[in-house]
Amino acid sequence: MSDKRKILVTGGTGFIGSHTVVELISKGYDVIIADDLSNSRLEVVDAIRVISNGIQPLFIKMDLCDRNATLELFQKHKPHAVIHFAAKKLVGESVSNPLLYYRNNIDSLLNVIEGAMSIGCYDLVFSSSCTVYGQPDVLPVNEFAPLKKAESPYGNTKKIAEDILADTVQATTMKVISLRYFNPVGAHHSALIGEYPQGAPANLMPIITQVAIGKRESFSVFGTDYNTPDGTCVRDYIHVVDVAKAHVAAIERLHSAGSPERFEVFNLGTGIGISVFGMINAFERVNALKLNYKITDRRPGDVEQVWADTSLANKVLNWKAEKSLDEMVASAWAWEKALDKKTNSQTSEKGFVKS
Ligand code: WQD
Repeated sequence: MSDKRKILVTGGTGFIGSHTVVELISKGYDVIIADDLSNSRLEVVDAIRVISNGIQPLFIKMDLCDRNATLELFQKHKPHAVIHFAAKKLVGESVSNPLLYYRNNIDSLLNVIEGAMSIGCYDLVFSSSCTVYGQPDVLPVNEFAPLKKAESPYGNTKKIAEDILADTVQATTMKVISLRYFNPVGAHHSALIGEYPQGAPANLMPIITQVAIGKRESFSVFGTDYNTPDGTCVRDYIHVVDVAKAHVAAIERLHSAGSPERFEVFNLGTGIGISVFGMINAFERVNALKLNYKITDRRPGDVEQVWADTSLANKVLNWKAEKSLDEMVASAWAWEKALDKKTNSQTSEKGFVKS
């Protein structure tokens, strides 16, 4: 395998990271995962192996905030390119503990950039977020829209990171593609990997699936008085496998060295806005169940409505989201049921008497 095909995926046992590793392996890449398992589990590596017919990534448990360890990682494994997912991503936690987010998300990025450059690894794909747009003035929002004040320290770390990468590209031979995710949801069709929140989830989809499975009694719909068709917030939900495939397209573009620009940004969305009620209705219809929820006040910091102009990624990356809302809600539910079954079997194996 040429060394052009060795990819380091930081945060590769996470939700989007694990799905991206599966897609990279399916395209013949050798993958190294560096992850501290602070928001994921080691068993994800074995799940990737099963999905990938026995081919598994090399897994290294480490803290990317450790500069020396990160430099050694690059020196030892000499990847050709990096996909950098590793970061803390809980909006609420970032508001209550901003220094944790600035320290963790920025230090790890700086170490990864330095490590890559130290071995001549100049291709980097960065995991960014639509949160950098805030509430756009024009919808759908495109990549040239003015960035707004971030709604949270988490979102600000993404803006700062993009500035760091843009400046680095100017001063070096690095080539960077920053992918701005809208709202990734769903799971691999095998139901062997999916969104695995460690602790109480903050995002709508895992909250819905936990209510559906009975882990939670009910959930809140945060506000029905927005200036939207049904009064609830609108988002651009996108299947996580479509997001993962875009990362492979980004790596291929960097390999091809076909881009005159060395710092490119792409929106990863479907271009379709779905409201909270719209997501609830789709989940109930596709999975033939009723969800228990109550209407409450707005959640502070929520953007009213945002969805993507995806034409740049469609054209330049030759990538387009293919999976439907029905596939998103069906796969999310299949994953939650598989997770519940595994957790229950592990509990019974431990000899606890199940009530
Ligand atoms: C979606 C909608 C809520 C929970 C966040 C990050 C963003 C990105 C995606 C990483 C909103 C409503 C939610 C609930 C609800 N993350 N909601 N009841 O806030 O759009 O974006 O996750 O890149 O950076 O900011 O996603 O899933 O939290 O909320 O009514 O219990 O669902 O108000 O309208 P969000 P979300």
